[in-house]
Order: sequence, then C-alpha cells, then structure tokens
Amino acid sequence: MSESEPPARLRVGLLGCGTVGTEVVRLLLTHRAELTQRAGVELELSGIAVRSLDVERDPIVPTSLLTTDAEAVVDGADVVVELLAGVEPARQLLARAVAAGTTVVSANKAVLATEGPELYEAAETHGAGVFFEAAVAGAVPVVRGIRESLAGDRVTRVLGIVNGTTNFILDEMTREGSDFASVLERAQALGYAEADPTADVGGHDAAAKAAILASLAFHSRVRIGDVPTAGITAITASDIEAATEMGYVIKLLAIAEASSDGLAVRVHPALVPLDHPLAGVHGAYNAVVVDAEAAGTLMFYGAGAGGQPTASAVLGDLVSAARLHVSGARPPAESRYAALTVVDPASVRTRYLIRLDAADRAGVLAEIAQVFAAHDVSLETLRQGATEEGAASLVLVTHGQTEAALSAAVAELAELEPVHRVTSILRVEGH
Ligand code: HSE
Repeated sequence: MSESEPPARLRVGLLGCGTVGTEVVRLLLTHRAELTQRAGVELELSGIAVRSLDVERDPIVPTSLLTTDAEAVVDGADVVVELLAGVEPARQLLARAVAAGTTVVSANKAVLATEGPELYEAAETHGAGVFFEAAVAGAVPVVRGIRESLAGDRVTRVLGIVNGTTNFILDEMTREGSDFASVLERAQALGYAEADPTADVGGHDAAAKAAILASLAFHSRVRIGDVPTAGITAITASDIEAATEMGYVIKLLAIAEASSDGLAVRVHPALVPLDHPLAGVHGAYNAVVVDAEAAGTLMFYGAGAGGQPTASAVLGDLVSAARLHVSGARPPAESRYAALTVVDPASVRTRYLIRLDAADRAGVLAEIAQVFAAHDVSLETLRQGATEEGAASLVLVTHGQTEAALSAAVAELAELEPVHRVTSILRVEGH
C-alpha cells in the first residue's frame, strides 16, 4: 500500500458481547456497506472477547470470532470497542490498546470516571484516540455536543437527568402516588432496574456520568470521588405529594457549575419547577440541559440506555475513529487546560424546600421565622396544612442559601419545643 492509499479495512476488536455488544455486532454486519461509505474504510469485526464461550447468544454473533482471550482481541485490532462493566479488566485492556497506539471506543463510565485521566494521557503519548459517547446517556449525543459543538463557547452549567432507572422510578411514584419500594420492585420485574439496584438508586451511576460531563464542559479533571452523591432511596410518596402541591417534580440531577472559587459537581434528588424542560422528561429517558454563554440553553434528550440506542452511540464513535484512521489525523486529546479546582458544593447557594410538623398555636410561625432570620436564611414561600394528629404541617421554600447556613438553621429548628419533626429537606434547582 502506498503512503497516500487509505487502508482497505479497519479491524474492530470487541470486548464484551452482552446486550449492547450484540447490537453493535448487528449494526456492523447489517449496515456494512453504508458504514464503509461513511467511514471511508471497511469496518471488519476481527474478534469478540467474552467471559464464557458456553453462553447462548443471538445468532447474529459469529461464533468463529468469539474468544476468551481479550488481550489477543486487543492486539489484533486497529480500533478496540470496550463494552465491559466495572473498572477491571477494562482498564488494563484499554491501557494495553492505547499503549500500542490503538484507538479505543468505550461505553465504560466506571473506568472513565476513575481512571480516565491516566487513559487520556497514555493515549495522547501514543497517538491513540479515546471516544466515549456511549458512556453518558446512551444514544444522546451530549459528549460530542459538549466536546465538539460547544468547543468555542463557555459552558456555565450542566444540569442533567442521566440515569434512566431512577427517572423511571420517580416518574412512576409521581404518577401513582406510590412509595419507592413498591415501584422499585415493579421496575425490577419490568427489567428497568437491575437485581442489585444500588449503583442506580444510590446515585453512583449518575455520579460517574456527572464527573465525565463536568470534565468535558469545564476543561478540567473531575473524578467520581469529587462528586458528593445522594440517591433517591429516602424519597417518600409524601415528598412527591408536597412537591406536586408546590408546583414541582422531583428528579435525580447531575449538576456541574462554575462557582467563584472553582467547579462544583454533585448528584442528588431535587425539586424542578413544572415548567422547566427537565420536568417533562418521563420514564427511563435521559436529558441534559447545558447553559453556555453564547449558545444560551441547550437540551440534549433521548434514550439513555438499552442495546440499540447505546450501540448507535458506539457506532457513531467508531465511524469517527475510522475517519481519523483513514486520514492519518491525530485524534482529539483531553482538554484539561482550565484545571479548575473541584470545590465542596456546600459553598454553592441553592434554594431549599423544608417540610416540618409543628404545634398549631399562636406564635409558632414567628418562632420558626426567627430561627431562619438568625441564620440569614431568607424565606420565599410558606404553605401550611394539617397533619392527621391536628398539628401544623409546614412546607417552606427558601431563597438561595449555602448548605452550611441551611443546615445550621434546620439543626436549631429541630430543637425548638413546638417543632415535632423536620420531615425532609430537598434542594430546588432549575431556575
Ligand atoms: N443503569 C443506567 C440507567 C444505564 O439506568 O440509566 C447505564 O448507564
């Protein structure tokens, strides 16, 4: 082959052949001719590494390509597609690929959110690319949107629903007034939630995605350990009812925003006003709202999981990787020049909704208001109902406060004689 002649084929090594891997194989084989036209080179499946050869698979998967020798698949490929779960052995295999100058396409948020920087550096050193559209929000092109389309702009905030399981659960709880445990059970029966739902309902899956999006949007390094995380297990049917009555819906949000002293990233359930675009994201869908100085507000929306949608994102990356391979251009490197310090989000000012039960008699509201005033916490709205026991059930929404001021006020409130209990404290986002 002469130097100017493009390669006739690109060997694609696949690591993992579960739901997504099978759909990647299907697209590669059934769209072969179109993909060749788009990529400028034939994408040839050269090997598929699996944990066991004894598993029954979709007949589309060529058994002759299956092997348990993942290193051999890496070594025999021009591009490696990594669809494994968890950090190891994925990290080692990706490191092996990039050390050999082989570009990788990964859907593995766990590796990227923990070991991403090391992987990007090694890839840069050896002239390999790292593509990972499928690691965040499945088919939704938010990685490319931030990394490429907004490369000329300044992102100021990222606010996203990046976990479909929790959005499905919260959505069902809102629609039916059901409690968390019964909806989780149904979500598991329907296959929306894993048998072990901890990563989803605990917010850890969303935290990995938040770290990846924050790194891209703010040209800095953020790892999952930098992301304070709260899941949805403590959300009750009465929290949802109170939110609805106040004109909000509860969503699990991944948030990254620049503050005066750095970059604050967090994952927690929050109340979102009903007229905010994220309030209309139902079922297992994902959506990410990005605010940028010049572009204004953008929303990326679509299927955040599932075999075919995730495979679509993988194939998009594969075509991009193939085009670069054909042209001989250097793949895009990690953009980390801003190197913002990741700060404790407790310093960020947020509005809060506080629910509490208190004695229903003259002067109680004044006492409560005094505690807030003493901590410089300004109240925006107050709504009073009644508990079954005849006490006052209060729902208060504050103006923007730091977590420190709010926590100090609530700790003092809880000690007040007329306050029976503080039922819940939730952040309000999306204004
Ligand atoms: N478990 C994730 C979700 C999909 O529920 O959205 C994979 O990231």
